[in-house]
Amino acid sequence: MIAVVLVGGEGTRLRPLTLDEPKPVLPIGGVPFLSLLLDRLAAAGVTRVIFSCGYLPERLRVGIGTPPPGVEVEVVVEDEPLGTAGAIRFAAAGRVDGPFLALNGDVLGDADFGALVRAHAAAGATASIGLTPVDDPTRFGVVVCDQDGNVERFVEKPPNADGLGPAPWWVNAGAYVLDPSVLDLVPADRMVSIEREVFPLLVGNGLIACQAEGYWRDIGTLESYLAANADAIGGQLHTRLGGSPTALLVDPTATVAAAAQLIAPVSIGAGAEIAEGATIGPDAVIGAASRVGANSVVRNAVLLDGAEVAAEATIERSVVGRGATVGERSSLLDSALGTGEIVGSDQALNDERRPH
Ligand code: GTP
Repeated sequence: MIAVVLVGGEGTRLRPLTLDEPKPVLPIGGVPFLSLLLDRLAAAGVTRVIFSCGYLPERLRVGIGTPPPGVEVEVVVEDEPLGTAGAIRFAAAGRVDGPFLALNGDVLGDADFGALVRAHAAAGATASIGLTPVDDPTRFGVVVCDQDGNVERFVEKPPNADGLGPAPWWVNAGAYVLDPSVLDLVPADRMVSIEREVFPLLVGNGLIACQAEGYWRDIGTLESYLAANADAIGGQLHTRLGGSPTALLVDPTATVAAAAQLIAPVSIGAGAEIAEGATIGPDAVIGAASRVGANSVVRNAVLLDGAEVAAEATIERSVVGRGATVGERSSLLDSALGTGEIVGSDQALNDERRPH
């Protein structure tokens, strides 16, 4: 089985974190997101993964790292963004000769892709859409099906749930199995969206949907990126991180002062240093070689590798970028600092107007 993974977006809602790093290589629980996705693809029997990208392709190549055994990786680079369908066509044409998986590369999950592949084959479908249940449909693309799973219509980001039947509502999870013939429906000369332009053409023509119950979260906003990190170390989904609600995942090369307090779940990376009196957690991920000064508080937050938080500072619902610095007694709430950014002493940053 071949998988095409879409990783070409600029991740504008996660800026400044995505100014020098594509969203899919940002770490989750200290591990590049794509590395966790590759684990999941390998478990589903995928042997070849084609990454469809355009934004910061070199950084993406580095971030992919070493694929799991038995998985071959290729990076295909678009000259300009082609939209979800255009990007799948560009990456898959000439490389697939049977049904293949196509995935949005920014969804953290643990449902079995193999189930979607099997449902597609059993139905003899042309295209199959993986669905996930949500309690609030207003931010998603709702997929309405008949009893047999045939897709009847799409309702994109409805203002409310009127006319959609009872909860939960099933929305497009960003995972598809496509017959190569679907590529012929995609015009080559412009941006094309698979959700808005291609799937509607297939309603009544072999388009099915398949409900999956596992964990699902897209990592596209600061809020969801922080939640994804907390869920991964808290064991809300199955990953190689070994997370659990009581997890204190401290790398053996990290230094944690005896008088520091760790509140689970917490992850502390290689070579990190936590000074006396600091409170780390719950839901804190401290990257490799990061430092947290005396009496500082880091909770519901992510420090990327090499970040520095000086003494008596507070970091909450925020991300401190690679090598970024927060000065003494400063507070960072609902905010993100990009790579190498510096916040001086006695500052208060609060960016509640970020996109949600
Ligand atoms: P925002 O700018 O914050 O909306 O993020 P994004 O650019 O990632 O867009 P969005 O979340 O809608 O994209 C969903 C998935 O499709 C992500 O994995 C993107 O990387 C990917 N994607 C979106 N547009 C393109 C494209 O034109 N080409 C490729 N190759 N991938 C794309």
